[in-house]
Amino acid sequence: MSWRSSLSPLLILLCGCSPGASPPVSGIPEPRSGYHFQSQDTQNLQDDDFANPGMLWVDGGMVLWTEAPETGKPACADCHHAADMSGVASRYPAYDKSLDTVLNLEARINHCRTERQGEPAYPWESEPLLSLTAYVAHQSRGVPVEVDISGPARPFFDAGETYFHERRGQMNLACVHCHEHYVGQMLRGDKLSQGQPVGYPIYRLEWQTLGSLQRRLRFCNTGVRAEPLAFGAQTWTNVELYLKWRATGLPGEAPAVRR
Ligand code: HEC
Ligand code: HEC
Repeated sequence: MSWRSSLSPLLILLCGCSPGASPPVSGIPEPRSGYHFQSQDTQNLQDDDFANPGMLWVDGGMVLWTEAPETGKPACADCHHAADMSGVASRYPAYDKSLDTVLNLEARINHCRTERQGEPAYPWESEPLLSLTAYVAHQSRGVPVEVDISGPARPFFDAGETYFHERRGQMNLACVHCHEHYVGQMLRGDKLSQGQPVGYPIYRLEWQTLGSLQRRLRFCNTGVRAEPLAFGAQTWTNVELYLKWRATGLPGEAPAVRR
């Protein structure tokens, strides 16, 4: 047994930190979805489309997809074939040249909403945005993740990587501690996974609803008693890009089910 696996989670939280020491920068040699760290019951829920509550949002998203907006502008479905959405979520966040920034899937959808439909952006975590995101992400189920981190996307990726390795909060822990060093350990009833972003938006049993990746990440902030970053913060998109790169090759799972 290694010294690490013999530590209790409480001990890790209390004294698993030596302030100042920067953890090693490492990718994930063998990415594994959080699915494998869930109980059999939770996995069964995800596997069965009739039982998976997240599918309700996918169905709702399909309705919104075909609905013409009040501006009289085209519906999503008028400009896009649903089939063309296959694989899109697996390559987001992506760099957008005209905006000179990286957009995650929610921001991309909202961009079409404001620029192509003349409608106000959906608020973060609103039902319609979650539904459309679930609908689009569902079309990437089984499609391996592959994001572009080259060229102009690189600085955003680098910033995300830095955030992942920085200690924060009263517990003075970085993402890398829980999701690389302590993978497999129990923490407040959860088995720590690699923190892979492939199932989002997810239905989380504890929330009793669907939630975005940023909602999950904000919980990871408060988990170390740090002030959570705001929804839509640039840093979150950077972190999403870094997380998606770490997940390279893992198939999309949306809508996943988590504890
Ligand atoms: C104190 C430990 C801890 C820290 C630090 C932490 N997390 Fe988490 N994280 C968890 C727990 C617990 C869960 C839920 C169980 C799991 O999947 O690991 C979770 C889940 C996740 C998930 C969802 C995985 C899935 O399969 O749905 C992602 C992504 C994630 N974390 C990313 C991050 C990022 C990015 C950071 C740094 C901003 C971070 N975490 C910091 C404890 C932590
Ligand atoms: C008037 C036509 C039009 C409408 C309506 C429209 N889009 Fe788009 N969409 C585009 C174009 C053009 C692009 C290419 C990127 C760009 O320039 O914005 C795009 C890009 C996208 C992408 C990224 C595709 C990729 O391969 O990266 C997604 C996802 C998307 N739209 C979703 C939606 C959703 C969801 C709606 C409805 C809320 C919608 N779009 C409404 C024209 C439209």
